[in-house]
Amino acid sequence: MSDKLIVFDTTLRDGEQSPGASMTHEEKVRIAKQLEKLRVDIIEAGFAAASNGDFESVRAIGLAIKDSTVCSLARANDRDIARAGEALRGANSARIHTFIATSALHMEKKLRMTPDQVFEQARLAVRFARQYTDNIEFSPEDGSRSDPDFLCRVLEAVIAEGATTINVADTVGYAVPEQYGEFIRKLRERIPNSDKAVWSVHCHDDLGLAVANSLAGIKIGGARQVECTINALGERAGNCSLEEVVMAVKTRKDYFGLDVGIDTTQIMPASRLVSGITGFVVQPNKAIVGANAFAHASGIHQDGVLKARQTYEIMRAEDVGWAANKIVLGKLSGRNAFKQRLQELGIELDSEQAVNEAFARFKDLADRKSEIFDEDIHALVSGEQGEAGEGAYRFVALAQRSETGERPHARVVFSENGKEVVAEAQGNGPVDATVNAIESHTRSGAELLLFSVNAITTGTESQGEVTMRLSRSGRIVNGVGADPDIVVAAAKAYLSALNKLQSPVEKVHAQGI
Ligand code: KIV
Ligand code: ZN
Repeated sequence: MSDKLIVFDTTLRDGEQSPGASMTHEEKVRIAKQLEKLRVDIIEAGFAAASNGDFESVRAIGLAIKDSTVCSLARANDRDIARAGEALRGANSARIHTFIATSALHMEKKLRMTPDQVFEQARLAVRFARQYTDNIEFSPEDGSRSDPDFLCRVLEAVIAEGATTINVADTVGYAVPEQYGEFIRKLRERIPNSDKAVWSVHCHDDLGLAVANSLAGIKIGGARQVECTINALGERAGNCSLEEVVMAVKTRKDYFGLDVGIDTTQIMPASRLVSGITGFVVQPNKAIVGANAFAHASGIHQDGVLKARQTYEIMRAEDVGWAANKIVLGKLSGRNAFKQRLQELGIELDSEQAVNEAFARFKDLADRKSEIFDEDIHALVSGEQGEAGEGAYRFVALAQRSETGERPHARVVFSENGKEVVAEAQGNGPVDATVNAIESHTRSGAELLLFSVNAITTGTESQGEVTMRLSRSGRIVNGVGADPDIVVAAAKAYLSALNKLQSPVEKVHAQGI
């Protein structure tokens, strides 16, 4: 058995299924390039058949990425598989990932199919996918709750048809570590051609066990591929965290005995990029990428670390990219230096005009903030800033007044389809007044589910990054805005969320049928 653990990142597919985490085409390409820098083996770029937008994103990522394999999800039917195959046509290395539910519950209630029909459809799907590539992954959805006898029958058949990876999905996060590891071990033992495929783990975090289950699937079950997302992004409680599972296998190489090809110094930049784009803030005490992950607050710990780091540190902060937080540009930096930094960060703006606009925003920021970090640049070009975002509303200016004992007041200027609007209102606090002012004109009827503020870098000079999560008619969107003035950031975030609520949805949900 191989001693390499294949890392399959699904931030752009399963991660994006998280309500409000949808990303634009350009943002997906930017994240894919960072995943390539991180040296993930496989990037699941999306679900090509979900919409034309998803198809184009998978295609663009396939063309942009050279070092990682690019994968598209496809339900087990000819149309989905053909869309995936077409989207991946130009990719250097491509994989089609097809799936169908195999648990009795899903087959009967969701698919309304008999086990024999599911068996046949799985087999035919893999056979059809072989027209496009030899690199085929098959997932039994809700695999961990499926009958082992039936699973053995299906998996043996799909391997015989040419599936090269078998991914045992714990779709609803029901598994517990030892049982899941044993489940995979027994499947591998019982299926006569199991050695013809790489076995993979795909765990959701509903019981907070996604990383533990994945590790058990690797150690006990002999899986050699792990499916995971940056910052554990994903539907409901999320997926297995890439940073945690990778650092566990690396740090405890004595126990797992496996090599991982990841450049761990790219973990923090990847984490910041994903949280900046999606607006899903990383909790401070999150392992590896949380702000406190390497902070030793207690005197005893600090004393120990100063005497010998290993006393309390099992990993070094710089090995996961914490040191990357460096000053990159300042007020005197010119357009060329700015453009070069964009290139180094893998940010490609689609026209000279877009570069000029981003440079103007950079100059404006540099006037107000002496040190500009990589994170500031990502925020500047994220396209979710109100002034840069696509859509009807754009932020123009804001004046707000608050004084102890007085009710705060805000006057917001924004444009609506190019026409300037001035709106004023009072509120409980400056952000409330700002949102009330915007709503006095837009009357969106949306419900605010979440408002969070996060400092992009360190120090009080930092830009505040605000996330506003809105819900309307069952649709949930996240708006993100950044500015050194957090009330301005809030106005940008709110307008960005309103823009997203207005954009049409034509997407099919992979697991929603
Ligand atoms: O959780 C799941 O079952 C999935 C499959 C498509 C692999 O994401
Ligand atoms: Zn999943």
